[in-house]
Amino acid sequence: MADLMTMAFGMEFSSPVVVSSGPAGFGSELAEMIDMSCVGAFTFKSVTREERKGNQPPRIVDCGYGMLASIGLQNPGIENFISDILPQSREWNTRIIVSIAAFNLEDFGYMSSILNTVEDFDVLELNLSCPNVEAGKEDPVTDPEYAGTVVARVKDGFKTRPVTVKLSPESSPTELFLKKCEDSGADGFTLFNAFHGARFDVDTGKPFLKRVDGAYTSPALKPLILRKIHLARQITSKPIIASGGTSTAEDILEYMSSGADLVSFGLISAIEPELLMDIPGHLGQLLKARGYESLSDYRSFLAETTKSNL
Ligand SMILES: Cc1cc2nc3c(=O)[nH]c(=O)nc-3n(C[C@H](O)[C@H](O)[C@H](O)COP(=O)(O)O)c2cc1C
Repeated sequence: MADLMTMAFGMEFSSPVVVSSGPAGFGSELAEMIDMSCVGAFTFKSVTREERKGNQPPRIVDCGYGMLASIGLQNPGIENFISDILPQSREWNTRIIVSIAAFNLEDFGYMSSILNTVEDFDVLELNLSCPNVEAGKEDPVTDPEYAGTVVARVKDGFKTRPVTVKLSPESSPTELFLKKCEDSGADGFTLFNAFHGARFDVDTGKPFLKRVDGAYTSPALKPLILRKIHLARQITSKPIIASGGTSTAEDILEYMSSGADLVSFGLISAIEPELLMDIPGHLGQLLKARGYESLSDYRSFLAETTKSNL
């Protein structure tokens, strides 16, 4: 099989397949269903300073062509996460990404400084993009200056590993968010979180979700994200983890063609987790069929193509 080793954030990933934050929760069920070493990295669901019970049900609506979810950052809080959940991932033999979310600078600073000395993970992801919670007084989804301030605060206390910033596709203009975060020390970007969406029951006239708004994920969104990643790649040379609408090995090649370094799988990791085990083998076949011995050969080809397009 073609060698799928991928370099990003100055480290090796056994493959570019990343499980994205959220749909697979804290990974214990996924680890019972699949061999976690088949993915290059697992991202934990976002953790906040205090425990959160999440939003009131109904919180999920199947849209046929995608899903609307409004979980509301349900999580056990950073201290329980560090003591009870994170150590389980030692067995998984894959890179680990820890995701944090907060509603004020102080909580971002507090969580990142305690994580600074915690072992058992490789990359810190800052969720500056959750669509399913009320923002604090200052909102990193709408205010690029504040997004940069959050990154600077986190980088101030967290120095031991790289920090990737997860942006909302609705943070506009994307270019300004990328620049502010990079200038403040972001080591990479996870692009993007889900879009806001809503669905209504025509018989009752009421929204399906208790909170009305949800995070909409669908393969139909892939072209929108591909375009935005292509634009982001003109702005930053930092590693990009693509996120949105992925379900196949072909998606990995397409996202890499648009400028991504790693490619994450969200919804699919919850609804068809066994697919994750097939994707690396299929990716190897796609590379071989195109005459590449390794993923890094394909990426070298992409780098040459990009240069010749300039
Ligand atoms: C049920 C659910 C929960 C999610 N929870 C989080 C989360 O806690 N933190 C986060 O950064 N993104 C969260 N996301 C967003 C995903 O990580 C991902 O960015 C998004 O679903 C798009 O990827 P996909 O099309 O592959 O699902 C969640 C998505 C879903 C569907």
